[in-house]
Amino acid sequence: MISLLLLFCSGVMMAQTQAADRGTEAALIFTGLLTASFIILTFFIIFVLDGDVEPILRIIRTLYHAVTPKGGPTVIPQDEDFDGIKELNNRVPPWFNYLFGGTILFGVVYMLNYHVWQSSPLPRAEYAEEVSAADLSRRIRMVAEGTINEDELVALRDDAALKAGQERFLKNCVTCHGLHGEGIVGPNLTDPYWIHGGGIKNVYATIKNGVPEKGMISWKLVFTPKEIQQIASFVLSLQGTNPPNGKRPEGSMYVEPTPQVKDISKSVGR
Ligand code: HEC
Repeated sequence: MISLLLLFCSGVMMAQTQAADRGTEAALIFTGLLTASFIILTFFIIFVLDGDVEPILRIIRTLYHAVTPKGGPTVIPQDEDFDGIKELNNRVPPWFNYLFGGTILFGVVYMLNYHVWQSSPLPRAEYAEEVSAADLSRRIRMVAEGTINEDELVALRDDAALKAGQERFLKNCVTCHGLHGEGIVGPNLTDPYWIHGGGIKNVYATIKNGVPEKGMISWKLVFTPKEIQQIASFVLSLQGTNPPNGKRPEGSMYVEPTPQVKDISKSVGR
C-alpha cells in the first residue's frame, strides 16, 4: 500500500518535471520506482508483518482462485428447460479472465504513461514535435542556400535541380498526382491545362501556398524557396510527357505571356 502510494506521489511529481527528453527520463524514473517499491515491500514484510508473508500469499491465492475454475464444467439445471435443452452455468474460462484482467492492467499503464506521467507524447503533441523539427531543418537549409527573388523566377533546367525536384516530388506528391504526374486526386500535371495557371511563377505559387480547401496543403513550411523552385521546375518538365492513364484536363489552356518588348520603332524619327 505504502509503495503504491509512493509510486503514485512520485508519478505526480514527475508530471511536473517536463524535461526535453521525457522518454528516457520516464524510463529511468519508472525503473527507479519499481526498485524502490520492491525495497519498501521487503521492509514492510520484515518489520510490519514480522516476516509473515501469509497475508500477502492469501491475497494472491484469492486472486488466483477468483480467475481459475475448480473442477470441470458444472451443469446446474435452471428453471428454463425447453424441450430437454438445458442452460449450462459453467465458470468463466481462465483465459477470458486473464484477458479481462490484462485489459484493465493495460488501461492503467496506458493512463499513467500518457495522461499522468506524460512520459509518451499523445499523437497531437507528437505531430507538433515533428512539424517543428521539420520547420527547424527547413530554416537551417534556408540559411545555407539563401533566398531567391520570387519576382524573377525562372524554371531551372539543369539536371541536378530537376533531379532534386523529382526526388521531392516522388516522396511528397505522387499519392495525389501520380508517379508520372498523370493525376489521381490531384489534377494531371503533364497537360497544358491548369486550374491555377501554368508557367513557373504560377506553379511555384500553387505549391508554396497550396489549395487547402481542395486538399492540397501549403508546402512553404516544408520546403525552402529554392526547393520549391526545383520541384516546380520538375513539374513543368513533365509537360507533354503524356503518361498512360492521364487524368482528363482540368482548368484552362495556359499560354505563356510573351515578354513585353518595348516597341521602339514608333519613337524613331520623332
Ligand atoms: C493530398 C493530395 C495532394 C498532395 C499530396 C499534393 N497535391 Fe497538388 N493538388 C492536389 C489537388 C486536389 C489539387 C487541385 C486543387 C484545385 O482543384 O484547385 C492540386 C493542385 C496542384 C497544382 C495545380 C494544378 C493546376 O491545374 O493548376 C500543382 C502545380 C500541384 N498540385 C503540385 C503539387 C506538388 C508539387 C506536390 C508535392 C510537393 C503536391 N501537389 C502534392 C492534391 C495534392
